[in-house]
Amino acid sequence: MARMDPHSYYDEDQPKTKEIRFRWEVDFQASHITGEAVLLLETPSAGFMDLDTKELLIGSVAADGRPIPFEPGEPDPILGQRLRLNLPAGTREITIAYATTPRATALQWLAPEQTAGKVHPFMFSQCQPHHARTLAPLQDSPRVRVRYTAEVTVPEDLTAVMSAGSTGVRMGPGPRSRTFLFDMPQPIPSYLIALAVGDLAGRDLSPRSRIWAEPATVEQAAWEFAGIEDMMVTAEALFGPYEWERYDMLVLPPSFPYGGMENPRLTFLTPTLLAGDRSLVNVVVHELAHSWTGNLVTNATMNDFWLNEGFTVWAERRTLEALHGKEKAAMAWAIGKAGLDDAFERFGAESPFTRLKTDLWGVDPDSMYSEVPYEKGARLVALMEQTAGRESFDLFLRRYIGHFRFTSITSEEFLAFLQESMPGLADKVDAKSWIYSPGLPANCPVFRSEALESLQALSAGWKSGERPPENALKIWSPEETLVYLQGLPRPMPEADCLWLDETFSLTGRTNYEVLVEWLSIAAASDCPPVFPRLREVLMSVGRMKFLRPLYRAMGATPRTRSLAREIFAAARPGYHSLSSRLAEEIIAAYPAD
Ligand code: BES
Ligand code: ZN
Repeated sequence: MARMDPHSYYDEDQPKTKEIRFRWEVDFQASHITGEAVLLLETPSAGFMDLDTKELLIGSVAADGRPIPFEPGEPDPILGQRLRLNLPAGTREITIAYATTPRATALQWLAPEQTAGKVHPFMFSQCQPHHARTLAPLQDSPRVRVRYTAEVTVPEDLTAVMSAGSTGVRMGPGPRSRTFLFDMPQPIPSYLIALAVGDLAGRDLSPRSRIWAEPATVEQAAWEFAGIEDMMVTAEALFGPYEWERYDMLVLPPSFPYGGMENPRLTFLTPTLLAGDRSLVNVVVHELAHSWTGNLVTNATMNDFWLNEGFTVWAERRTLEALHGKEKAAMAWAIGKAGLDDAFERFGAESPFTRLKTDLWGVDPDSMYSEVPYEKGARLVALMEQTAGRESFDLFLRRYIGHFRFTSITSEEFLAFLQESMPGLADKVDAKSWIYSPGLPANCPVFRSEALESLQALSAGWKSGERPPENALKIWSPEETLVYLQGLPRPMPEADCLWLDETFSLTGRTNYEVLVEWLSIAAASDCPPVFPRLREVLMSVGRMKFLRPLYRAMGATPRTRSLAREIFAAARPGYHSLSSRLAEEIIAAYPAD
């Protein structure tokens, strides 16, 4: 009996799934999916097999076509329900007929008003880290990799897309429906299974990349991400060949709770990236980089999440540097540091959640999401790079990816490989302290740039009366503006807020990173002229990276707290369940008024 994943009932000693065939009907009236999942096993097997399920209605289970009994366990708030099967000797495939429920946390069902087009409904999935089990019964641990095929029936005027190759569309079955066929031939962890259905249009950006979005946004999206082929070529030169054939992207409605999700062959993106000036494409570079770090070499469990995100943030910045130079990369490191400082402050630097290797037994991984695995992880990788020298580290990285491609590994497996291929490097950088101790080690790399330091000095001087140059609005990039804003004190007097807004035209910004940094200064400063824009953003955007600082900043005064409560009550029905929970937790921690 060997369970090694704190968030799955998967047992390493039991039969393992190698492929899944989904047959789904997507029902927008009932907000559920009905159908079946056929699990093909690695070898003919017998005995107990524990699957993960959550909020699923299981209709029947058959082993090689013959019905077998099944036994759903007690629901656990984090894990869901274990579905224990007892397979007869020689079982090769398990067919499970089931339906999802409207409580499936992997799925958000949007009414037409929540889309750009306002005419058709929309649904999308977000399975990472442990929500795939609300979409289908499966071994929902990254240690298990599956190929999959899917037949997805949707209303005839809607299009289905998945993290897979498209293999065709046919009419029916039945009137007014279409069935989309998919094939994902490479083995992936279950958290990368992804589906979206809506009124979608596609534009080709290169022979291997297409952008999908609602018709109302697809042109803007095609312009924003037109550079994708350059990004791919640059990333391939750094990390090796792109192994997934196509790299398509899907722009979701604004309630999507993340900036991006690296679903293989089809990255999911928030529409808040459509700044109109390509200033937020680093998120695309990040999701693209996951094609190597994360999707080829995958964390074994969420305890090793830094292997996914730390390597990917580092890879994102290496790619940015190759595309746009050292200054841009330094700026990205600085912006990331502000997020890391924030997370350390939230947890306390001595908290075990500031370790890279975490212990999440009994802990909901969504509630522990933070910048630590991203920014602390990326700094460890950068330190190894600096210590080994760029050339030999790049070689190491390609060997690492080549060695572990299509597998899921622990921090310990990483360390063993590191020791084997670059003996002594781990000790030299004290990798074990980085991975197993809380806080930020003293040998943490610092990324300097002149531009950066002058911006930081300028915002630090705010209190002593220093102000930015008059033409700052014209000459500062969005990133520079962001670094400057991050360094400003809060709260500030209303007159100062208004001066800032006027000088930098902040309330009208289309770059959401800048806009949200500004709105959180204004919210923390209780500045009423900015409330209408604040309300607009909180009412329409579900990206948690933005909701968190805004709702937190609104905790500052009785007036902003009551505004937050009022806006949340109105916005909640449109939020993704993850976004709702986040806002609710923040508001619940406000002092009572
Ligand atoms: N894989 C993550 C998103 C994620 C992590 C979803 C954990 C669910 C659980 C994705 O690659 C990501 O990191 N997105 C960031 C992008 C940023 C770091 C450039 C985001 O959404 O902000
Ligand atoms: Zn990521």
